[in-house]
Amino acid sequence: QRPIRIAPSILSADFARLAEEVRAIDAAGADVIHVDIMDGHFVPNISFGPTVMQSIRKATAKPFDVHLMIAPVDPYIAAFARAGADGITVHAEAGPHLHRSIQAIRAEGKRAGVAVNPATSVSVLEHVIGDIDLVLVMSVNPGFGGQSFIPAALEKLRQARALIGARPIDLEVDGGVGPDNAREIAAAGADLLVAGSSIFAGNDPATYAARIKALRDA
Ligand code: DX5
Ligand code: ZN
Repeated sequence: QRPIRIAPSILSADFARLAEEVRAIDAAGADVIHVDIMDGHFVPNISFGPTVMQSIRKATAKPFDVHLMIAPVDPYIAAFARAGADGITVHAEAGPHLHRSIQAIRAEGKRAGVAVNPATSVSVLEHVIGDIDLVLVMSVNPGFGGQSFIPAALEKLRQARALIGARPIDLEVDGGVGPDNAREIAAAGADLLVAGSSIFAGNDPATYAARIKALRDA
């Protein structure tokens, strides 16, 4: 059995207290910190950029799993790498040269991930699977926290797990993950669960540890 890791998405944190929220989620047992970067172009929302990320980097020693929802993405890979990313995930849909983007991440010495939107087939990963460290199956249309899990993502997780085979590649799922569906999501093959609203709702740090535990227990 694969260990399941929990990646709280700080998109649902209180941005006015971002560093405190990162410290709280670290103390509550987060395995990695999921950092959502949105540009108002690739997705219909804007979050923050590398300067803000760099300033919260000091708040935790946990890995930063940076999910870039931006296009073009290549001009910004180095900036996020240098702002403290441990892994950088780009979208297969973000540009015509996915292989080049992956090489750019690796050239920075970071773990390379590729995300696929709900309507994108896992098969786009077939020819890059040997070059990446993480596959991200989106289970909502990216752009916002708090959306409902799209059930078709379960079959995509099974397909991605089959494509990964014995390779040491993380299989991450992002969007609408909570204690009610975490079990079937893990059974479908995911081993890195992103959770935003199901952990941060209410922004009360006293609730975070129990919510992370609820996901793990599920
Ligand atoms: C959505 C982001 C997610 C988001 C998940 O575009 O990529 O990481 O924060 O939020 P929840 O868990 O609330 O669906
Ligand atoms: Zn994300």
